[in-house]
Amino acid sequence: MTAPTSAAAPAALHGLAAGDTGRPHSADWTIPQRWGDYTPQEHAVWQTLFERQTALLPGRACDAFVAGMRDLPIRPDRIPHFGELNEVLKPRTGWEIVAVPGLVPDDVFFDHLANRRFPSGQFIRQAHQLDYLQEPDVFHDVFGHVPMLMNPVMADFIQAYGEGGLRAQKLGTLPLLARVYWYTVEFGLVQQADGLRIYGAGIASSRTESVFCLDDASPHRVAFDLERVMRTHYRIDDFQEIYFVLNHLDDLLELARVDFEPLYRQVADLTARQPELQPAELAPTDRVLHTGTGAYAARQRYVQVQAQ
Ligand SMILES: [Fe+2]
Repeated sequence: MTAPTSAAAPAALHGLAAGDTGRPHSADWTIPQRWGDYTPQEHAVWQTLFERQTALLPGRACDAFVAGMRDLPIRPDRIPHFGELNEVLKPRTGWEIVAVPGLVPDDVFFDHLANRRFPSGQFIRQAHQLDYLQEPDVFHDVFGHVPMLMNPVMADFIQAYGEGGLRAQKLGTLPLLARVYWYTVEFGLVQQADGLRIYGAGIASSRTESVFCLDDASPHRVAFDLERVMRTHYRIDDFQEIYFVLNHLDDLLELARVDFEPLYRQVADLTARQPELQPAELAPTDRVLHTGTGAYAARQRYVQVQAQ
């Protein structure tokens, strides 16, 4: 994946692009966090990222995210210690954070999730990479994901996703399931009584996308529909062109209980008759909350053509 032309894309890939580079000795790819080895410069990068996101998220992040962040021992001035996080997280929802070197293979990733272990990048991005990084680092993984893991609904949903991922690997349907994760856990929006809010970690950990996803006229905002999401491609190199909106975070509970096997067949049947949807496309069955202008994506395409 090449770097985007904007300072847009968050570090949201998980398990989808890992190779054997950097494979640790342990079979589950976990490593010690070695918290004492972080340098003052690395803690300073955390502080910069933490302070600017914390200033942006009031009125943007959903209530569950805010509550999770409030209750966790996450401080502005230092990279969190996973052991300290786990002392609060584990009694709350049974989840724990384990350190990994970066992306891990799919089967390892799903096995961790299925057992309520969230693999977090041990490293932190460098000061010149504040707005873009391909691999998930400790800021994306802890700041973006862990507050939502304090929520029992998200806790159950991500475990179910891990179990579903292991099954989908055997069925050869992982790309369809990965879209569900992408458009919920990473880039999901939820409707609250006081407005549209962010719950996706890819957004919550991104300075630019946390504004773009709610305020910009460019992207579509469409009510979440599982089958529709499974038929929709996504952007990994720039802002999303479409966001799917849950009516309520509790809708994830229902999603966690869905039997995906018949759905995979339905989606495959449908895809045999009509093409999958591109991120910028709306479907006739969509319940559209906002029809995007597409202006941002058009501008990005223009810039790329000019650069060639
Ligand atoms: Fe992520």
